[in-house]
Amino acid sequence: MTIQTIATTPFAGQRPGTSGLRKKVTEFQQPGYLENFVEAIFLTLGDFQGRTLVLGGDGRYFNRDAIQTILRMAAAHGVSRVLVGRGGILSTPAVSCVIRKRAALGGIVLSASHNPGGPDGDFGIKYNIDNGGPAPEKITDAIYEHTKTLSAYRISDAGPVDLDRIGSIRLEDMEVEVIDSVSDYAELMAGLFDFDAIRALFQRGFTMRFDGMYAVSGPYAKAIIEGMLGAPAGTVVNAEPLEDFGGHHPDPNPVNAAELIALMDGPDAPDFGAASDGDGDRNMIVGRKLAVSPSDSLAIIAANATAAPGYRDGIKGIARSMPTSQAADRVAAALGVSCFETPTGWKYFGNLLDAGLATLCGEESYGTGSMHIREKDGVWAVLFWLNLIAATGKSVNEIVQEHWARFGRNYYSRHDYEAVDAGAANAMMDDLRGKLASLAGQTLGDFRVQLADDFTYTDPVDNSVSSRQGVRIVMTDGSRIVMRLSGTGTEGATVRLYLERYEADPARHNLDTQQALAPLIAIAEQVSGLKARTGREQPSVIT
Ligand code: G6P
Ligand code: ZN
Repeated sequence: MTIQTIATTPFAGQRPGTSGLRKKVTEFQQPGYLENFVEAIFLTLGDFQGRTLVLGGDGRYFNRDAIQTILRMAAAHGVSRVLVGRGGILSTPAVSCVIRKRAALGGIVLSASHNPGGPDGDFGIKYNIDNGGPAPEKITDAIYEHTKTLSAYRISDAGPVDLDRIGSIRLEDMEVEVIDSVSDYAELMAGLFDFDAIRALFQRGFTMRFDGMYAVSGPYAKAIIEGMLGAPAGTVVNAEPLEDFGGHHPDPNPVNAAELIALMDGPDAPDFGAASDGDGDRNMIVGRKLAVSPSDSLAIIAANATAAPGYRDGIKGIARSMPTSQAADRVAAALGVSCFETPTGWKYFGNLLDAGLATLCGEESYGTGSMHIREKDGVWAVLFWLNLIAATGKSVNEIVQEHWARFGRNYYSRHDYEAVDAGAANAMMDDLRGKLASLAGQTLGDFRVQLADDFTYTDPVDNSVSSRQGVRIVMTDGSRIVMRLSGTGTEGATVRLYLERYEADPARHNLDTQQALAPLIAIAEQVSGLKARTGREQPSVIT
């Protein structure tokens, strides 16, 4: 075994986006493409003497190849030890959990989250730091700078490591420890939730379907929900991670998890439905004929936090991304705790969690989590809901309706215009930004504009400033229109239009969401010219 220095030249466009570097598999398969990015990570991190890295991915196509390459590069860079999930499998929350539990220097997550997988699908790579969370911008910027100037990478010429057998192996001077993918994570969950109460719930005949979407959460859900909590076999479906996710789009929203929604809408609906995404950090919560909006789920978890043993002492604060509805703000106000508004991207929650300013975090994009790790966590959210149902004896529908009756309902929807021409989308956003100053104070339909800006966030912990994080038009009654371009798409640009309207009157809590939001949808079109600018009559996805 020798360590080789291989000459390379930079690839354009290796700037990590909202959640690491995501590209088509075919792009990653170019000789040196993955190696360059990994070299840039190692150059940024510096010294590895005595340090441990965690490595794993969601099992998508190219996962195993990438893991072998990264192991050989880690050995060449003097890393002392790498903990790798068996079969190369670790969900994003599990990576975060293992980094924290084993006091690792950081971890590398291989996933393109909810993006489709397979030879023609997407792949991704993301670095997480020692708190278990995604690297902050100063690190991802430094990685990007290195990708632009690289001339070589270092790699061992050792053969492949057996990823399927638990135990330790040596690679050059480095120890590779293949670990069980689930056990550290399952132990953490057992400490946060009342597993006895949930077991008793299942014993009473409570029924559930968890859809693993042929992605990484399946093994976790099976081990915990069926194994530890005693739900009947078959409760977790599509539980085997497949390299192409069975050809599906592993994103738990009502559009992509259509089979689950159809079941929950039909006569054979179980009591509770849930799904998670490609890398296991997202979640969707479904009651009978009711898909709970992620913004509502965050608010409901916050309002009921003390139902779970891990949160019995109450919460310190809530954080939500700017486009996420303000339902959580109302709960924070009632509890007398702070509510932080951050840019889109889980990484912005890291400082708030580390500083103990927030306990719970959530995003409209089906992400919910807490201070237990530094990633959002799909199975965690599902277990929280199970704990809540077990503690209250109420159904999902009762919990949601009672929440709205107490706090009011924030009608909420997101319209995505996917894979549109990037030039046209950027021009539309530029024109919209140019109009913002003149919008304040204007009357638009039944609404008056209170504030129109491009969101700027100042982190209260390190005072770093993130600007141009999304255009928001806030009305005097709290209703909002938000528009931004996705940072996670891999084809053209994706325009996201977020709509929110508050309704206090319980008699009006069961309107059709799109109808309730129709006046705001019309205003958004009037102000932005979205349809003409993108050449699309309809959004590609409505959630
Ligand atoms: C990922 C990130 C989230 C983010 C979501 C949508 O899941 O982890 O933090 O909310 O992508 O991001 P986008 O930029 O596509 O709206
Ligand atoms: Zn994900």
